[in-house]
Amino acid sequence: MNSIINDIEIIKTKTSKINEVDFDNLKFGSVFSDHMLECNFKDGKWQAPKVLPYQPIVLDPSAKIFHYGQSIFEGMKAYKDVDENVWLFRPLDNFKRLNISAKRLAIPELPENYFMDGLKALLEVDQEWIPKKDGSSLYIRPFVFASGNGFHASPADEYKFIICTAPSGAYFAGEVRVLIEEKYSRSANGGVGFAKAGGNYAGQFYPTQLAIDKGYQQVIWTDDNTHEYIEEAGAMNIFIRINDTLITGPTSDRILDGITRKSIIELAKKEGINVEVRKITVSEVVEAAKNGSLKEMFGAGTAAVISPIAGFGYKDADYELPKLDETYASFLKKRITDIQTNKAEDIFGWRYKV
Ligand code: PLP
Ligand code: COI
Repeated sequence: MNSIINDIEIIKTKTSKINEVDFDNLKFGSVFSDHMLECNFKDGKWQAPKVLPYQPIVLDPSAKIFHYGQSIFEGMKAYKDVDENVWLFRPLDNFKRLNISAKRLAIPELPENYFMDGLKALLEVDQEWIPKKDGSSLYIRPFVFASGNGFHASPADEYKFIICTAPSGAYFAGEVRVLIEEKYSRSANGGVGFAKAGGNYAGQFYPTQLAIDKGYQQVIWTDDNTHEYIEEAGAMNIFIRINDTLITGPTSDRILDGITRKSIIELAKKEGINVEVRKITVSEVVEAAKNGSLKEMFGAGTAAVISPIAGFGYKDADYELPKLDETYASFLKKRITDIQTNKAEDIFGWRYKV
């Protein structure tokens, strides 16, 4: 990969907001760092990226993003260790997945050096924004959308690739309860479920709000065809422990191929945990909850890290998960966050020094 780092223009803000931020009480993704990376696709090619002060974007009302939702994103985190080194976790996997999403949404793919060098340049400028406190990190949001205009329902001829970042704490404020969905679907065969397309999330908001109104935090999506198979949650992949076996569903064109999910599968196997990647039915989970063999459920994702699930609802009944002293969730969470934050050896080569 030929580096473009020296070609990235950097325009710094004159008024940093960093002193207004309470780094001891960070929520998820609600304060934004001083700078952003911006890169425009114009005249058939991606133009040189720039680091700019974080600022509003000016768009035509006829920009295609507003009408046809041509938009994709990624989610990543930067961590700072005790020696102030900055680390990313498997960033090339995010880059590759962004381009997988781009292809499906007919968005021009990004060159690897624009993504990686752009990100490095941005992190260099905003390195003071990377929290050091355990459980906090700098959440990174790369996204690409159709900025070109026209009412014709066809791909735009101009796009913006932007990265902004937000020092963040935990995604879920408290206990996580999930509702297993039996009516609505997140995605369908042949659709865009595997892509990180903005519209996948918009489509979840209404059914998720219905679940929130009933006291749950997330929906667990089931397959659109039969609603019998567990797919994934709104913002994370799902793991289910029955007795001592850890199970997660296979990915498909309806499910996001989570980077945390695949890391947890490898890590758990390496630690001697019996892992099965196979289809799992809702009735199997309900039956396991009733007979006591359901030991744990947890979500896995960049924002969610590993979030234990306290209970689930299905067809008007509620099921509680046991409160175990030692869980796979807490064991695996410590193992993965120790690797991410350079507190443990990384035998997998996942950690990436910025
Ligand atoms: N599933 C969905 C729908 C998500 O939005 C996310 C978050 O990115 C995940 C799963 C987990 O993916 P990753 O571990 O790559 O963050
Ligand atoms: C992430 O985990 O990075 C995501 O993109 C999930 C998002 C909905 C917060």
